[in-house]
This record gives sequence, C-alpha cells and structure tokens, in this order.
Amino acid sequence: MRIIRAKDYDDMSKKAAEIMAAQINLKPDCLLGLATGSSPEGMYAELVKKYEAGMLDFSKVRSYNLDEYVGLPKDNDQSYFYFMNHHLFSKVNMNIENTVLPNGIAEDPTVECEQYNAMIEASGGADLQLLGIGHNGHIGFNEPDDHFTLGTHVVDLAPSTIEANSRYFASYDDVPKQAFSMGIKNIMDAKMILLVVSGEGKADAVNKAFFGPVTPEVPGSILQLHKNVVVVADEAALSQVGK
Ligand code: GLP
Repeated sequence: MRIIRAKDYDDMSKKAAEIMAAQINLKPDCLLGLATGSSPEGMYAELVKKYEAGMLDFSKVRSYNLDEYVGLPKDNDQSYFYFMNHHLFSKVNMNIENTVLPNGIAEDPTVECEQYNAMIEASGGADLQLLGIGHNGHIGFNEPDDHFTLGTHVVDLAPSTIEANSRYFASYDDVPKQAFSMGIKNIMDAKMILLVVSGEGKADAVNKAFFGPVTPEVPGSILQLHKNVVVVADEAALSQVGK
C-alpha cells in the first residue's frame, strides 16, 4: 500500500485526478470502478477540467459503480446515478452506454445482485477501482460485520451511515435504509485501487483500516492485502496515524 500525503482536500483531489488521468491515458479503453460521495467530488471536477483543456479523452472509457441506494430511480437527485451523471458522465465525452450502476428500482434485488456480480466477474475486475471510506471504515456500502461479503449484495445500512448520509436528504427518515453494493471480492478483483480520503472526521477510520488488524469489523482493512493500493490522504485524515 502506498500512501500519498496531500496538504488538504484540494491537493488530494488534484493528486488523485493525476492518477486517474494517467490510467486513462495509458489505456484509453480502461474499465474504471467508480465511487460517489463527497471525497471524490473534487477529483471528478479536476478530471472535467482536464477534459475541457483537451488533455483527456473518455470516449472509450468503460465504468461500473460501487453502489446504489435501493428504491431510488436514476432521476432522483440523491441516486448515485444522478451523482455520477452530474459530476462526470454528462460533463465529459463518456458514452453513457459504457457506464453501469446497480438499478436502484430493480424488481428483483436478488436477480439484480446476481447480474451485477456476473458482469464484474466476466470483466475480470476493473483496471482501477476508486474508493472513499466511511467513518466506520466501510468501503462501497460494505458495513462492519463479523465476515466479509464477497459478491454484490443488498446491505442494511448501519445507523451511523444513514446519519452521515442524511446531510444530503431532508431528514434521517428520508435516507434509504438499504443499498446495493459491490462486495469485497468484487473490489479486490481490481488491478489497482485508488482510495481518496480527507478530513479529521476520517482520521480514526484511516488509522484502523490501514494501520490496524485486517478485520471485517473495519471493512477497508482488507485493502492491506491487495497488491496495488494507492491511498491519497490529506494531513487531517492522517492525523491519528501512529498515535
Ligand atoms: C458512502 C458511500 C461510499 C463512500 C462513503 C464516504 O456511504 N457508499 O462509497 O466512500 O460513504 O462518503 P463521503 O466521501 O461522502 O464521506
């Protein structure tokens, strides 16, 4: 695991965008595993700037996303499809046909999970999987548990995750209580993993996930076992390390 220290959120976003851009330039038809949340927002904005400056071509890039809320259709402004479209897909020359997210309103969630999982297995894993990390160490929506769930599954969100994500909704009660999430094997199948993390609120999660024991109680800790992980973290997020 390589940890790249950034000064602050902006610096983290720029450094992470350089890595994503290098991946796209090296392999224009690369398969990206994408993530939502406030952590990668700035990085997406940097990628859009590079595209607008003529430095990046997304026309052959393919992607699938980590997760989606159960029950939210694509046009709901809190859905992860909406987020991706707003922050990236509609702002660059990405072919929307080449992007996949779990269908939040799938009639049969079990079938949706099986199909999503099969799609990832068939792809052989992303060239680069982008991740954030939750305050409780979750990655995607893989919440702390007594075991790692390998494949794509429906998750009952932890109350602390619902609370954290309620900042985007009118109230706690409006936050969906379940989500589709890629599983740990789906994530670990990626050839490279890029995790972005910023702020003091994540310092405990960073310390436990990357410097503590590997345990499903801290799902992000599994990344210590992946051969090619780059964490771009700002100083505040690294402030608990070694303490
Ligand atoms: C969300 C998402 C994760 C994200 C995490 C942190 O619930 N499912 O993919 O990494 O929580 O979000 P944020 O970056 O907004 O702190």
